[in-house]
Amino acid sequence: SADTAMDDLIVIGGGPGGYVASIKAAQLGLKVSCIEKRGSLGGTCLNVGCIPSKALLHSSHLYEMAQKGMKKYGITAGNVSFDLSQVMKQKEGAVTSLTKGIEHLFKKNNVNYVKGSAKFVGPKEVEVVGLDGSVTRHHAKNIIIATGSHPIVLSGVTIDEEKVVSSAGALSLPKVPKKMIVIGAGVIGLELGSVWRRFGSQVTFVEFVDKAGFFLDDEIGAQYTKLLQRQGLKFNLGTKVVGVDTSGPAVKVETENVKTGKRETLEADVVLMSVGRRANVDGLGAAEVGIEMNHYQKIIVNDHWETNLKGVYAIGDVIAGPMLAHKAEEEGIACVEHIVGKTGHVNYDCIPGVIYTHPEVAWVGKTEQQLKQEGVDYKVGKFLMQANSRARAILEADGMVKVLTDAKTDRILGMHILGGDASEQIAECVLAMEYDASSEDVARTCHAHPTLSEAVKEACLAAHFKPIHM
Ligand code: FAD
Ligand code: NAI
Repeated sequence: SADTAMDDLIVIGGGPGGYVASIKAAQLGLKVSCIEKRGSLGGTCLNVGCIPSKALLHSSHLYEMAQKGMKKYGITAGNVSFDLSQVMKQKEGAVTSLTKGIEHLFKKNNVNYVKGSAKFVGPKEVEVVGLDGSVTRHHAKNIIIATGSHPIVLSGVTIDEEKVVSSAGALSLPKVPKKMIVIGAGVIGLELGSVWRRFGSQVTFVEFVDKAGFFLDDEIGAQYTKLLQRQGLKFNLGTKVVGVDTSGPAVKVETENVKTGKRETLEADVVLMSVGRRANVDGLGAAEVGIEMNHYQKIIVNDHWETNLKGVYAIGDVIAGPMLAHKAEEEGIACVEHIVGKTGHVNYDCIPGVIYTHPEVAWVGKTEQQLKQEGVDYKVGKFLMQANSRARAILEADGMVKVLTDAKTDRILGMHILGGDASEQIAECVLAMEYDASSEDVARTCHAHPTLSEAVKEACLAAHFKPIHM
């Protein structure tokens, strides 16, 4: 195999963690190679995750609005239909333009893009099997592992991406299934289940725990689940899947109630498996060179994202923490800053989460049940979207904002938004928490009127003293 020159940094994986780390490192003066085996940059997020899912969520929402959602505004749209192949083309166009955009950024910043699959052959050396079949060896002073994650598949089940699909298959179905069963009502299930319901599928969830979005604040989660049920999504909560049978024309899913043990068989044309994701470490040779992993196969790192091997780092989905693109990016930047001797930092208490359904849910910091469990003396400020004038004017009045503060100091400990545009509004909340704001700080900040963001201000007024409009 051919040897290549020594780099300052090799990044394995060109997803949000890896490509951002590569660009940042090049900007800070390092000689960088980024190795990616997929054939395009952007990782799971751009190719089969964040971006295509948001494209489909948008087009399916537009369809639903045009079909029936605009009537309440006095607008009728005649015969509304959609062309699924065109819908998919728009999605693919968005993905291609963005992944090509990263290639352009690599060129602009002088990042060496290596197309192939990397495997450790020594602590600071990887072998790359190129997409063209060539085998090369690459050495570097530092290596960042940013290999991401892949879907978990329940044992005994095979993903054929036709009848039984992962999120990747669910983003590219050739036709709308009549009936769809979603195993796992987590972020992927809720978003993609919503997409196919809007396009006309009967969608049924089978979820192990007793609520949709197990990580949500209980009160927000309960309201959210009700709103989703009103849209026609069916939830079998507290129920686990014990078998999937694909031998007949319809897929049969056998479920078991977690408490009663009662079994039931459900049928569907398509089953979406969305029960979580697992780190990509197979075939990486990481274990062989002695890199330590925990029992979930996540690579173990210290405060500076360094593994037990000096100069070998890991970031993003392949290490512990929320599996989110923005978390991977923050780690990529901070890790590289550390490598060049600066002080990179990620505040894990301030990583926002969003479910991009309609309404959206967004949150940052602690849930009420977490504070209870930790024995924290807290206060709650709530404001219903019903009482927000903009929400009323545009008929987006479902949901609420909930703020949790320290009872003594008024410092904000958690913010939760259920309602339109929550994904955009959460940025203000993250900034407030990042600067250790009190609810009084946000309550005294002038918010434009009429905006949905006034609900955040009012919830802070409620936490600090009393809201004005409720
Ligand atoms: P990845 O994006 O997985 O990138 C890793 C890359 O490494 C891959 O391209 C892979 O091909 C490559 N690779 C792996 N092994 C090797 C090897 N040995 N050699 C060379 N290359 C290798 N997150 C959000 O924040 N917001 C969202 O809205 C959102 N939506 C999502 C929707 C779906 C359907 C899915 C599946 C995920 C979504 N996520 C979302 C999660 C997000 O995609 C991930 O958290 C993010 O992509 C993680 O980034 P990463 O860089 O760690 O890994
Ligand atoms: P998840 O961890 O969010 O949810 C999985 C769900 O499956 C859980 O509710 C769990 O209780 C349930 N489950 C597990 N085993 C089961 C069984 N046998 N029967 C029934 N239910 C079972 O995982 P998901 O949705 O696959 O997403 C993976 C990752 O992708 C998440 O960590 C998320 O952060 C990321 N993602 C983020 C998005 C966003 O930020 N908007 C969108 C999509 C994915």
